[in-house]
Amino acid sequence: MTGNRPAIPPAQVPQRDLLQLRVLPDERQLRADIERLRRERNAVILAHNYQRPEVQEIADFVGDSLGLSRQAARTDADVIVFAGVHFMAETAAILNPDRVVLLPDLRAGCSLAQTLTAQDIRDWRARHPGGLVVTYVNTTAEVKAESDYCCTSGNAVQVIESLPADVPILFAPDRFLAAHVIRETGRSLDVWDGACHVHAAIRPEDVQHQQAAHPGAELLIHPECGCSSRVLAALPDLQLYSTEGMLHRARASEAQTFIVVTETGMVTRLRRDVPEKTFVPVSRTACCEYMKMISLENIRDSLANLQPRVTVPEDVRLRALRPIERMLAIG
Ligand code: 13P
Ligand code: SF4
Repeated sequence: MTGNRPAIPPAQVPQRDLLQLRVLPDERQLRADIERLRRERNAVILAHNYQRPEVQEIADFVGDSLGLSRQAARTDADVIVFAGVHFMAETAAILNPDRVVLLPDLRAGCSLAQTLTAQDIRDWRARHPGGLVVTYVNTTAEVKAESDYCCTSGNAVQVIESLPADVPILFAPDRFLAAHVIRETGRSLDVWDGACHVHAAIRPEDVQHQQAAHPGAELLIHPECGCSSRVLAALPDLQLYSTEGMLHRARASEAQTFIVVTETGMVTRLRRDVPEKTFVPVSRTACCEYMKMISLENIRDSLANLQPRVTVPEDVRLRALRPIERMLAIG
């Protein structure tokens, strides 16, 4: 295990029921303004599965980190509004140097991305000449620029399986995702000791509590979760899913009720796309304050002002593009 930088303390969550979609009366005008500005600016709104219900509702595309990167790579819009967090907007900017990329609130960061710096990778490489660095997409552009491959929870296993068996690999920064990849591939990895404060805080007891309340419900667990090793010890055949993987599983499964073990926004997405089934959040406190900083108000304002923009210096962009393109090519 490498590194031990603590996650930054989260910011405050704006109040509102984050699981219910209710169009508030004063939101009708906001939605109309967003609609008009979206057309005038030739803009696309990309939203992560953890976004607020009303933001998911107005987005052109809602998905996981991999799906959002793919959408950002293929868009022909002039403006990309990223309803997500900073590293996601940076990834869009790396893929789209000639388009305007807006992040409606620049404070929308990521505790996991902050656990690893570019210098940490340079130090690791100095200790492991010839090693390969695979970083989760939840990293800064500077960290990606020092990486050989990027991955998301949706393709981390395939990325590691595509690499030669005899070279040292640094897998960073999420230690729980790393444990999942090691279990699935049998590979030995040097693992960075980082975690997301939301997923790390989900306890096996939270899962057990919901299992007792919903007997027979199927578990949908994200590999970033701190509870996954202990839950898997009791249920060794259980699969873990990226947020988009959860959606596919919910559709394909014969189960009617699911316990959603990840950030609460995923429950919104599942309830909207699979309305005939029941989705229960593992804990209402599993809430990413950074994701929830994006609102209809700041989306409207960013479209009106074309600010705040996310840009990446060209030398960093060109080096960060390589691992992202390798990731997109793999799966
Ligand atoms: P995915 O949507 O790629 O599964 O990632 C989850 C996450 O925590 C993004 O910040
Ligand atoms: Fe980062 Fe965790 Fe929030 Fe995802 S849920 S953006 S990993 S802090």
